[in-house]
Amino acid sequence: MSKPTVFVTRKLPDDVEARLSQNYDVRLNTSDKIYTQDEILKLSQGAVAIIPCHTEKMDAALIQQLPDSVKALCCFSVGYDHIDIQAAKAKGIQVTNTPNVLNDATAEIAMLLLLGAARREYEGETQIRTDSWADWGATFQLGKQVSGGKLGILGMGRVGQIMARRARGFDMEIHYYNRSRLTPDLEMGATYHDNIESLFPHCDFLSIHCPATPDTHHIINKESIALLPDNAVLVNTARGAVINDDDLISALKSGKLFSAGLDVFNDEPNIDPRYKQLENTFLLPHIGSATLKTRNEMGFRAIDNLDAIIANKPPKDKLV
Ligand code: DGY
Repeated sequence: MSKPTVFVTRKLPDDVEARLSQNYDVRLNTSDKIYTQDEILKLSQGAVAIIPCHTEKMDAALIQQLPDSVKALCCFSVGYDHIDIQAAKAKGIQVTNTPNVLNDATAEIAMLLLLGAARREYEGETQIRTDSWADWGATFQLGKQVSGGKLGILGMGRVGQIMARRARGFDMEIHYYNRSRLTPDLEMGATYHDNIESLFPHCDFLSIHCPATPDTHHIINKESIALLPDNAVLVNTARGAVINDDDLISALKSGKLFSAGLDVFNDEPNIDPRYKQLENTFLLPHIGSATLKTRNEMGFRAIDNLDAIIANKPPKDKLV
């Protein structure tokens, strides 16, 4: 019997591609080029499922044009803001994501950004690399101390909870906003705020872990930034869409914010060039989940979901 065809939009780790090839006739993307929507439609012909990454924007217009053979979009990502899931549902296409497996890796990058932004990593490293470091000085390169500071977490889901755990290692006082309050065993002493107006004044450091939805679009804007204490540090490992770039850049320029650590941006990879001109930014290229262990686990999770759908069973991470 012939194997079902699966179209994989990007190059995935070798072990993931090998496991896929065992049970499927796989259309791999060996050159890892980013396909246009036309190419996606072409490569989807005859496929029973697509494994897209967040780099493929699958809007309603694209989904409506997918061939009827496509029954599943098994995302290689926890975020699914790149998929119009209602359009998929309307076309009878199941959509899954890969929650949980990237929590530790993403929280690591959030902590790296928090430390790097607070301790002015970019400026320090630049001086070393450009041979412009004059010498040690008692008032040279003074950063903002993380230990014992107050950390606000916007979105206390799986990644946010691990970030809180890591931050407790730095004796940070944790505050959070989430749509629903966590149970005491998960809250672990963190202070719950039922709106961001109450949370933000407590955030010497703010780490964003909420998904990109219409409700969170540009949730970081002039008004919300004004609620933060002066000299706060902002960290984003969620999605660029939660930030109004003009407003964040103004706050970084004016000194209202001490610094920002950003791993995700609007319009990646063509990010607002003003971020690169600022010295008080610590910037990474969307590598929150970029460890081999995590990328393998994301791939295996996507395949588990695919296998279930092909076997007519409910996939573990069904979105629609
Ligand atoms: C995710 O899984 O959502 C990461 O941002 C990578 O796409």
